[in-house]
Amino acid sequence: MTITHPPTATDGATISAPDLVAGFPFPFPNEIYRYSTNVEPARGAVPTPAGQWGTAVVDVDSEYGAELAERAAILERDPSRSAVLPHMDVAAWDAMLCLMRELALSRPESFGLELLDPTGPGGARPSYRWRNDLLAIDHVFTLGDATSLPAPPLAWIAGQVQEDIVLLDQRDGVLHGDAGVVTFAADWSFGFDVGMTFLEIHGPVPRIHAEGVITRAHEFLLNLQPNETYRRTNWTLTIGRRLDVSTELYPEWGPDREMVQTLDDDAFGRLVHLRTEVQHLIRLPESGAVMFLIRSYMLPFADLARVEPWRARAAHVIAELPEDMADYKGIAKYRHRAAAWLREFPHH
Ligand code: HEM
Repeated sequence: MTITHPPTATDGATISAPDLVAGFPFPFPNEIYRYSTNVEPARGAVPTPAGQWGTAVVDVDSEYGAELAERAAILERDPSRSAVLPHMDVAAWDAMLCLMRELALSRPESFGLELLDPTGPGGARPSYRWRNDLLAIDHVFTLGDATSLPAPPLAWIAGQVQEDIVLLDQRDGVLHGDAGVVTFAADWSFGFDVGMTFLEIHGPVPRIHAEGVITRAHEFLLNLQPNETYRRTNWTLTIGRRLDVSTELYPEWGPDREMVQTLDDDAFGRLVHLRTEVQHLIRLPESGAVMFLIRSYMLPFADLARVEPWRARAAHVIAELPEDMADYKGIAKYRHRAAAWLREFPHH
């Protein structure tokens, strides 16, 4: 990511690497937060008081190596985080090519996709050369030929992007989450949701059904044209820099919601993170599937609060959030302390 603004508010030592502060997608454009069909065209730069975000659809930052290693370890322990239903094969190839192009677009110095032969060996399928210098990959493959890849296409590319990936098949006017690799789910389970419709996946979310948010979002996605790319953000609080807060691991992280209340202010500020998901929605051109990308960014309160407009806005949004939404996000037990911590910073 190119940072055009100097990270003015981050002088001195932060817990997070400077690029994680400068590129943090602060998720509160308004004084209060409510659910809405908050989609906008992708790729627009969003300046923030610390830097900017938003130009890349697939974003690579200083956590690249660590997050990919974590994804690999999670998949090794629990293969149910990855699934491709049999009819999703074309969509998986489509997704792989699209993600390679996006990587090359956002960091041409590190990634490159080159079309070698538009017709490919045997005259049928195109062949490509893929270069990922960050992982020392330089590989030639034939589109649609699984034997030309070191791993199935979705699994292979999921090992090269920090984003979680869900592929939705559109049939009979309904979207179905029929493939994906999701290792960093915030309080949901990909293995449980796979094969569900878009509406079923959103079943547990309060308010959105009565308010028509999810039917409007569904309509919007059904009308997405080939290669059209949109984005939205979502947010929550996470205790510790823990990417994998999936339902499967609830016994590991659930008790932190009690524990965090017993911490002193210094530890509280280091452990409680604002977690933003930047989600991209892309209509894949060959298969017609919708690709849903979820990139999870986390910033500890101790770093967030040093950016004054972020401190004040986050304190207000978190304090004002209606109880049912706080409950659903799993932050009801400690959000008032979180808001007070931000309000009183640095005078704890
Ligand atoms: C315009 C598109 C979309 C909108 C407006 C939307 C809206 C929402 C909202 C408001 C929530 C609750 C978030 C919270 O309080 O933290 C949510 C949760 C969720 N969304 Fe979406 N969403 C969209 C697209 C998608 C897509 C394409 C998927 C594909 C899998 C998806 C999967 C989920 C999941 C798994 C949850 C958590 C549900 C649970 O608790 O089990 N969303 N979404």
